[in-house]
Amino acid sequence: MQILSVTAEIFPLVKTGGLADVAGSLPKALRAHGIYTRSFVPGYPGVMRALSDATPVAEFENLFGERATLLAARAQGLDLFVLDAPAFYARQGALYVDSHGREYADNWKRFAAFSLVASQIARGLVRNWRPHIIHAHDWHAAMSLLYLKYAGEDTIPRVLTVHNLAFQGQFPAHYFPELGLPAEAYSIDGVEYYGDIGFLKGGLQAADAITVVSPTYAREIMSPAFGMGLEGVMNERHADVVGIVNGIDLEVWDPSSDPCIEHHYSARVPLRRLPNRQVLLRHFGLPDTCGPIFASVNRLTWQKGMDLLAATAVEIVRNGGTLIIHGQGEEKLEAEFMDLMRRFPQNISVSIGYDEHLAHRIHAGADAMLVPSRFEPCGLTQLYALRYGCVPVVARTGGLSETIIDANDAALHAHVATGIQFAPIDEDGLRHALRRTFRLYRLRRVWEGLRRQGMKTDCSWHRSAARYAELYSELLNPDMRLVGSA
Ligand code: ADP
Ligand code: GLC
Repeated sequence: MQILSVTAEIFPLVKTGGLADVAGSLPKALRAHGIYTRSFVPGYPGVMRALSDATPVAEFENLFGERATLLAARAQGLDLFVLDAPAFYARQGALYVDSHGREYADNWKRFAAFSLVASQIARGLVRNWRPHIIHAHDWHAAMSLLYLKYAGEDTIPRVLTVHNLAFQGQFPAHYFPELGLPAEAYSIDGVEYYGDIGFLKGGLQAADAITVVSPTYAREIMSPAFGMGLEGVMNERHADVVGIVNGIDLEVWDPSSDPCIEHHYSARVPLRRLPNRQVLLRHFGLPDTCGPIFASVNRLTWQKGMDLLAATAVEIVRNGGTLIIHGQGEEKLEAEFMDLMRRFPQNISVSIGYDEHLAHRIHAGADAMLVPSRFEPCGLTQLYALRYGCVPVVARTGGLSETIIDANDAALHAHVATGIQFAPIDEDGLRHALRRTFRLYRLRRVWEGLRRQGMKTDCSWHRSAARYAELYSELLNPDMRLVGSA
C-alpha cells in the first residue's frame, strides 16, 4: 500500500513542534505493516540542503504566479517529494513567521500552492507513482483534500490528521477567487468559515476520515471549550472522527545510545542516569540543591500553561528545588522567565531558544518534566520524559491525561503510576502538583518506582501504527469499520 503523506514539517529536516516528529516517525513504523509512505514537503532551505538524489519530476511555470519544480528525493531515510519554490519557501525567517514573529502575509498562497500540488500528485502528476491514500496533516496540507474533491477524484480515500485545532489557517474571503476552486467550494460544505476562508475547515469537510492525536482530544473537540469554533463541524463529522494516540521514535529517543547525552543508561541500569544531573546543572550554571530538578522544554505560550508555571515557580524555590526552562515563544513569557532567573539565580535557569540536543540532555538530567498545558491534543514531551526517566507532571487534559498514570494511592500500590496529573488547570492546581511532587521525591523508593515504571512504559508506535494501518485498510475496503469507534 502506498501513502502520500502531506506535511509542512518533518523531523529531522524541519521542525517547530510535535507535528514534525510524528510525520517523520510514523512512516518508519508503518513499514512493518507493508505500508510505504512518501512524504510531500515544502522546499524550505533546511529541506533543500538535506536532499540526496533529487530528481525533477514536474515543472510549474506559473504556480500561483511563481515558478516551481517538484523533486523526488531521499533524505535521512525518508522518501520525499519536495516542492522547490524559492519564492514561497526560501525565506530568512521561520517556517510560518518572519524574523519579527509576524505571520507571512502570503501564507494562504504558500500553503494553497503546496496543497494544490499535493492533490495533483495524488491524481498522477508523477509518472509511475500514485498513492492509494492521501493523508494530510494540519491546516497547511488540509486543502489538498479539498482540491482533490473538487477535481472530481473520488477513487483515492482522503485522511486528515488534526494535530492541533487551535491552528486553522483562516484567511480573508477576498482570496477565494485566487484559490482556483469552483464557486460552490465557497460554502458551508467547503472552505467558507464564518465569512472567511478556513483551510482546516475545508479539509475537514473534504476528508473521508479525520484522525486526531488522542482519543481524549477526539472527545474534547466536540465541545466549544476545545473545538475552537470548529466544534459544529466536528460534531457533524463525528462518525468519521477517530483518536489515535501518538507514538515516539525509540531510536531517536534512546537513553542507552543517544549521542546527545554524556552518560548512557536504561531501565535496567537506571543508576547510570545520575551523572547526567551534574552535567545538566553545570550547563545551566546551577549549584546542586539536592532537591528535585524540575524542567520544561516547551513553546512558551498560553496553550502550554507556561504563564501558570511562571506564576508558581517561587513554590519550587521555596521548597529547595531547581527549575530549568528551555523554550521560546511569547515575548512577555520569555521576559517573565528571564526575570525569575535574575531573582533566583541559585535555583532557576532559563535558556531562550530552540535546541534539539539540549532538549535531549534536559530529559536525561532533570527529575520532573512539567507540562501544565491548558489543552494538549497529544503531547510528546511527556512521552520522551517517560522514556528518559524524568517523571512527568502534567495537566489532566487531552493526550496528557491518557499517557500518564497519576501517582494516587491506588496506582502507587499497584505499581502502575508513571507521573503526576493535576486538575483544575490553574495556578492552585499546579501549585498543589508541585507540592505533591516534592513529597513523592522525598520518598526515595516511591520516586524511584515511579521513574522505573515510566521507563518501562511502551511509548512506541507499535499499537498506533497498527491503528493507522487498520484505518487505511478500512478506507480501501469500506466493509470494515474502525472510524467513529474511539
Ligand atoms: P507541540 O507540538 O504542541 O509543541 P509536543 O509535545 O507534541 O508539543 O511536541 C513538542 C516537540 O518540540 C517535542 O519534541 C519537544 O521536545 C520539542 N521542543 C519544544 N520546544 C523546544 C525547544 N525550545 N528546543 C528543542 N525542542 C523543543
Ligand atoms: C500538536 C499538538 C501536540 C501534539 C503534536 C503532534 O503540535 O499541540 O499536542 O503532540 O501536534 O501530534
